[in-house]
Amino acid sequence: MQRPRIKNILADGNAGQQVTVCGWVRTKRESKGIAFIALSDGSTQDTLQLVIPEASPAFQALIHCNTGAAVRACGILKESPAQGQRFEVEVSAIEIFGDADPVSYPLQKKGHTLEFLREISHLRPRTNTFGAVFRVRNILAEAVHEFFQSRGFVWVHTPIITASDCEGAGDLFTVTSFDMGKLPGSNNDVDFSQDFFGKRAYLTVSGQLEAEFLAMSLGDVYTFGPTFRAENSNTSRHLSEFWMIEPEMAFADLKDDTRLAEEFFRFLCRRTLEKGESEISFLEKFYKNTSVAELKDLSEKAFVHITYTDAVKELERSKEKFEFPVKWGLDLQSEHERYLTDKVFKGPVIVTDYPKDFKAFYMRMNDDGKTVAAMDVLVPKVGEIIGGSQREERLEVLKDRMLQSGIPFENMEWYLDLRRFGSAPHAGFGLGFERLVQYITGMHNIRDVIPCPRAPQLIKF
Ligand code: 4AD
Ligand code: MG
Repeated sequence: MQRPRIKNILADGNAGQQVTVCGWVRTKRESKGIAFIALSDGSTQDTLQLVIPEASPAFQALIHCNTGAAVRACGILKESPAQGQRFEVEVSAIEIFGDADPVSYPLQKKGHTLEFLREISHLRPRTNTFGAVFRVRNILAEAVHEFFQSRGFVWVHTPIITASDCEGAGDLFTVTSFDMGKLPGSNNDVDFSQDFFGKRAYLTVSGQLEAEFLAMSLGDVYTFGPTFRAENSNTSRHLSEFWMIEPEMAFADLKDDTRLAEEFFRFLCRRTLEKGESEISFLEKFYKNTSVAELKDLSEKAFVHITYTDAVKELERSKEKFEFPVKWGLDLQSEHERYLTDKVFKGPVIVTDYPKDFKAFYMRMNDDGKTVAAMDVLVPKVGEIIGGSQREERLEVLKDRMLQSGIPFENMEWYLDLRRFGSAPHAGFGLGFERLVQYITGMHNIRDVIPCPRAPQLIKF
């Protein structure tokens, strides 16, 4: 079906031109013998106004053309006398593919709550809000590839099914072909040697470990794929299935890593404004939790850098009443992170050099023997969006760290091989894609920036 997109018509159309457009009816109204339809085809935030005079043969068809109906309309493009739109279409023929019953169509009226829309995740992309969010998501996904490709990074595809727990945190979903009603072994001790892969397998929590071996041959690489975590976190910033971007660079240290993260983040903000300003303006107007001005500022601004040790001092100095204790050696909680970004520094902050005890085994030990070359990028409202580090490239130090962290060597010899053969300093990070989209769009809940959110007790279809 040949059809120009509404986005292109509004940008490059010419008055007098014959057009055929397809889309869904957002609103229909009649006034003094003329019907007006606002048509959306998903290509842009804007709708295209269709004008159908009573005298037109198309007018009769409009009885079966309600909000939500899918239609094709042919007509002449005209300069629009109405405010806020450049063109409208004077319709000569209209074809209705599928009507939507005004009584039962859930989006018949505007102004539903985001909670209600979450219940109808298959229909919510038809609203202005979710159209905007998913278009911004697409702009960001394209920009991710553009950024890394333009710097010579190789996009690598790390496995989704894995036998190792990268983060060592144990929040894994098991992948099995067992008939769950007939598990071999006793109930508490399932015999995974009889399972599909001959050992226990999981959905990956991160592609980092595999990205490391690819960086140790290809130089600079990045992953962009789905990751899964079975942590029981019912919050507005956690999903059980989310996408992560993980660059990994050979011959790089923590400084190179933080620099890459900053440049990456600024680039993403800039591209969003270049390609999605109308989406951001819409979200700014309705939710007031993002803004064109703020993104412009972010696309130019350097991040504040602070060590964990100094961040703890800053928190200890504060008069704020925190729910969780602040003490050197304890992990920062989101209330602490937000205090730093929202109140102290009023912008993105990179915290580096965390105590080794609550960070992953693969992070490079600093000379003080107490901290590791780790970094977290924290942003206002959302908190941590990036976690990364320089990796431990010294075989013996890494083995010690694995022992201390209780990481079994079984299954990990290949990872140690990278330190045995041509080991080199390397560093990388993981950007949570939904946290990024959440921050850029200003959506309060991460469940509203992915088409089908998965979270504890939540899987609709
Ligand atoms: O800090 P994390 O756990 O780091 C890693 O997985 C490293 N292997 C990354 C690396 O160095 N290559 O996760 C990275 C980011 C977090 O900063 C956060 O943005 C996001 O992934 N993230 C989540 N996003 C949504 N829901 C969850 N449950 C998330 N857990 C982590
Ligand atoms: Mg982290």
